[in-house]
Amino acid sequence: MTRTTRSSRMLVWWLPLLLLQGSATLAWADTPASILAKYEKLAGAPGSPERGKKLFTTDFKQVLGWTCSSCHTEDPSRRGQDQLKEKPIEPLAPSANPKRLTNPVHVDATLNVNCADVVGRKCTAQEKADLMAWLISVKPR
Ligand code: HEC
Repeated sequence: MTRTTRSSRMLVWWLPLLLLQGSATLAWADTPASILAKYEKLAGAPGSPERGKKLFTTDFKQVLGWTCSSCHTEDPSRRGQDQLKEKPIEPLAPSANPKRLTNPVHVDATLNVNCADVVGRKCTAQEKADLMAWLISVKPR
């Protein structure tokens, strides 16, 4: 076997791996709209910004005494303050902070933790769709 054929065989091996990596990177690069669409598909109904806003500011009377807005303020286009670690939190609204709502795994994990603290259970796909729809609808000041 000559050197050239060996290296082209190597390429044949690596090509699918490279392609896989490429599609993984693409899947990672979600947008707020595509994350909303995933929750809407799971819920089988569109997200409602009005319901999302209501959930965000509702006191579910949990032990910790927090609403979502305790840490994020009632206006997601503004910076919040972590009530636990007492650190500032960058705005949640993608219009004010383009880094937000672009990583579906991170968004879902965060919502599960926050809903457990604030609502006392995991949020449903419909509630997550409502929250996404609202955060996306918020305009910067
Ligand atoms: C005790 C404070 C606190 C409460 C209460 C809280 N959050 Fe958060 N939230 C945080 C912190 C801290 C982060 C992560 C820091 C960061 O990403 O800047 C975060 C991150 C997020 C993100 C991540 C967005 C992204 O793409 O990066 C979302 C969405 C979110 N919170 C929504 C909510 C919702 C909805 C509720 C209510 C059910 C809630 N939060 C309640 C502190 C809080």
